Amino acid sequence: MAAMLTYLDHHATTPCDPAVVAAMAPWWSEQFANPSGRLYRPALEAAAAVELARRKLAAAVGGQAEGVIFTSGATEAANLALKGVAEAAADRGERRRGLVCLATEHRAVLDPLAWLARRGWPLTVLPVQPDGLVDLDQLAAAIGPTTLLVSVMAANNEIGVLQPLAAIGALCRQRGALFHCDAAQAVGHIPLAMEQLGIDLLGLSGHKLYGPKGIGALVRRPGLHLAPQQHGGGQEGGLRAGTAPVPLIVGLQAALGLALADREARAERLGALRDQLWQGLEPLGGIRLNGHPSQRLPHNLNLSVEGVDGSRLHQALRRQLAVSSGSACSQGSPSHVLAALGRSRREAASSIRFGLGRCTNAAAIEAAIAAVTTAVTGLRRDPAGPGPAA
Ligand SMILES: Cc1ncc(COP(=O)(O)O)c(C=O)c1O
Repeated sequence: MAAMLTYLDHHATTPCDPAVVAAMAPWWSEQFANPSGRLYRPALEAAAAVELARRKLAAAVGGQAEGVIFTSGATEAANLALKGVAEAAADRGERRRGLVCLATEHRAVLDPLAWLARRGWPLTVLPVQPDGLVDLDQLAAAIGPTTLLVSVMAANNEIGVLQPLAAIGALCRQRGALFHCDAAQAVGHIPLAMEQLGIDLLGLSGHKLYGPKGIGALVRRPGLHLAPQQHGGGQEGGLRAGTAPVPLIVGLQAALGLALADREARAERLGALRDQLWQGLEPLGGIRLNGHPSQRLPHNLNLSVEGVDGSRLHQALRRQLAVSSGSACSQGSPSHVLAALGRSRREAASSIRFGLGRCTNAAAIEAAIAAVTTAVTGLRRDPAGPGPAA
């Protein structure tokens, strides 16, 4: 990370904790045996490490060890859950085929659902309330006798809002629909117990909780039918073929252990810093909070800034602050999440997502307030500067 850059983009990814790197170290070149189906000692040790990680992960999310399927991350977990459920139901000749989700889901969920919709699975994409929360009456009305699955994320990656999972789980149970929850931004950050919440399928990702990139998991209720999306050597109970990445699995377990150990203290500390950030920026005027004020992750702040051009604002910030804008940079298209809250294209473009993390301190918050204040006051005085080349 560049020396003067303040990193406040922890929803995009988190630094892998040095203790996690240390836990993974022996599993690359010393204890490198393939854990699958071998009888010699190093292979049995590798298999034992994978099974221990499976048990710990299941306990961390309130699920069962036999329900854990290691994947490359939350995108793969969502693809396996959604396509796997749909295909398995179709194979059994189920009459339930309907799929329901919120407009604010991550693309890792929206895209596989759209893929299924193009192949004949009826899809309902529900709007959200202006604060980003689900409208439970609308959700109840959307779940009918032919609904197969409802997909609602635990915590939104842009605006941090926390959906009422227990109420959604209860609705799904009552009506016989499965509940899939993309919990990539929630696991390790807020308490989550899938069985208590009525979640049938839960996805998570290592690099969102100070673990390594390239590892995640889908945790399913044992016995729930899934069609594999990757075929080959039959690993992960035949549901995700491919040699298990033992170092990454050990790293995920270590990261989860650390995240659960400091979760409460971290949430309290980052919540206070986030409030300090908001209090430092609000006096600028024309600052609008995106998402529910309290039903949100403690380390998230997302706001729209009036009276400035979004691309100029982010150009002005990029050398000092690592934050995200309300437009998907690669295509320049406005955020579908902010659009679902009713924000205009212009408002979405001039939005800033702050994601605080373990390494964020008061000095980082002061630096962020100073950088945004300088950029916003400068652009409001001279809307043409500093310009895209700055
Ligand atoms: C809510 C949510 N779901 C899914 C993903 C995809 O995660 P991964 O990078 O592990 O595939 C992300 C990451 O941006 C996310 O924030």
